[in-house]
Amino acid sequence: MRTIVLDCDPGLDDAVALMLAAADPHIELAAVTTVAGNQTLRKVTDNARRLAGLLGVTAPVAAGCGRPLVRTPAWSTVHGDSGLGGVTLTNDPVGLDPRHGVDLIIETVLAREAGVVTLVPVGPLTNIAMAVRKEPRIVEHVREVVLMGGGYHAGNRTAVAEFNILTDPEAAAIVFGEPWPVTMVGLDLTWQALATPAVLARIAAVGTAAAELVVAMLGSYGEAYRAHRFTEGPPVHDPCAVAYVIDPTLITTRRAPITVELTGTATLGMTVADFRDPEPDCSTQVAVDLDVPRFWDLVIEALRRLP
Ligand code: BDR
Ligand code: CA
Repeated sequence: MRTIVLDCDPGLDDAVALMLAAADPHIELAAVTTVAGNQTLRKVTDNARRLAGLLGVTAPVAAGCGRPLVRTPAWSTVHGDSGLGGVTLTNDPVGLDPRHGVDLIIETVLAREAGVVTLVPVGPLTNIAMAVRKEPRIVEHVREVVLMGGGYHAGNRTAVAEFNILTDPEAAAIVFGEPWPVTMVGLDLTWQALATPAVLARIAAVGTAAAELVVAMLGSYGEAYRAHRFTEGPPVHDPCAVAYVIDPTLITTRRAPITVELTGTATLGMTVADFRDPEPDCSTQVAVDLDVPRFWDLVIEALRRLP
């Protein structure tokens, strides 16, 4: 059993990550925190609370930071006005935990034995960076950080920068700069997790409310991506990070120190992975190859367990 804090900005693919975390029997979802990213903090928190209501999530849900540490936020273009593509949830939300998301992260980590809680950030890294600055002891206390963001080959928001990292590059630099184990599940990996028509047909056949929601969300998302280069289907980024925690054999990784570009004019937010001869104690690694069939089996199995 793995205990995680999911820090998210739902977000279509964040929603799928939450479903996987809520339903997989190998995950104890200890807390859900939200961060401004794909949409405003108000919208992503509302989405998280309604998703939690729909999925029967009992973990506390708390709102974190409403803007990046330094930069001006720019909401994502592919998640639409609601943050969930063409979908607006109307079911009852779960209550909002009164703590700030950063405090909930710190308290959840420190409430368990050292080496138990894994942080899974799948949005901009603002909350995680703030948590480290507020309570540095969490660095020693967490088991690891498995984040969706960055990439070592190409970007999506710019030629070289990925959305989560570019939204708050200073926060990312803090997170990659700490000595805790970090796995960067970046675009090189998540561009392998495409919701092809065959995958969507399998999800539609599941028949649960959660599965129907995924099909509705990914439909509009697919349109947005087809306009670009993903003709087979849209990449479903965020559940890849949760999947790695559940079953690390799904993803091959390579060790490399990672530096976040903070001053480049054309390269701001780039995650520079240095594959040249990493030191044996290098604490960062990047995700390289996904076992695509087993990944979708895992997601679909989770959708079957949900309401
Ligand atoms: C990341 O950016 C967001 O739009 C997605 O939710 C994902 O976390 C992909 O670049
Ligand atoms: Ca996200």
